[in-house]
Amino acid sequence: MFISFEGIEGSGKSTQIELIEELIRAKGYQVKKLREPGTTELGEKIRNIFLEKTTETVDPITEAFLLYASRKHLDQNFLRQNLSDGAIVIADRYADATLAYQSYGKGLDHNFVKLIHDSSQLLSPDLTFYMDISAELSRERISDREMDRMESESIDFFKKVREGYLQIAHDNPERVVVLDAKKTIDELHESIKKIISNKLNVSLD
Ligand code: TMP
Repeated sequence: MFISFEGIEGSGKSTQIELIEELIRAKGYQVKKLREPGTTELGEKIRNIFLEKTTETVDPITEAFLLYASRKHLDQNFLRQNLSDGAIVIADRYADATLAYQSYGKGLDHNFVKLIHDSSQLLSPDLTFYMDISAELSRERISDREMDRMESESIDFFKKVREGYLQIAHDNPERVVVLDAKKTIDELHESIKKIISNKLNVSLD
């Protein structure tokens, strides 16, 4: 089973991923985590290039090529193997992020993203949790971090990314679960636990 977590900066994805990973592992399942861009040796190098601040303008097409280079390599060197070994793979972001950030956020043509996505012949998550917070709350939560190239984008950009994620969730109701990420860590964990238990058909209590 392939589960992805999505959300703008400061939505609490990483905390929820850690909690659920621990729980699923404790139930005897093999769990593998990935982050995007990144995870593989090549992917982590791309991640550094992608996130590093630069004085040059980085076009969303350039971003999409970097992201899909990392994603295709991840598919071939991590994802398929682990899924066929029977692991539950938990992704800290996946392809929805390119639609949300590069397409809805930066105006990259949806059809272009669809074309490179389809041509790359990638797997799709079975289940996606989108952790929803406002752009204002996101900014508040990350204000004490040293911001990378993406985090330094404007609040208006993050508003568009959020709207994009909500649209993606609306378009894919069978896969994407929207969580109100203003809720407490425990409340969110409980919801995630219940939904995954139902999908896996196993009790995680
Ligand atoms: P993070 O996962 O540590 O938050 O950092 C990844 C950053 O990259 C984050 O700002 C979202 C951005 N990103 C995109 O813009 N498009 C993508 O497709 C992915 C996977 C990430």
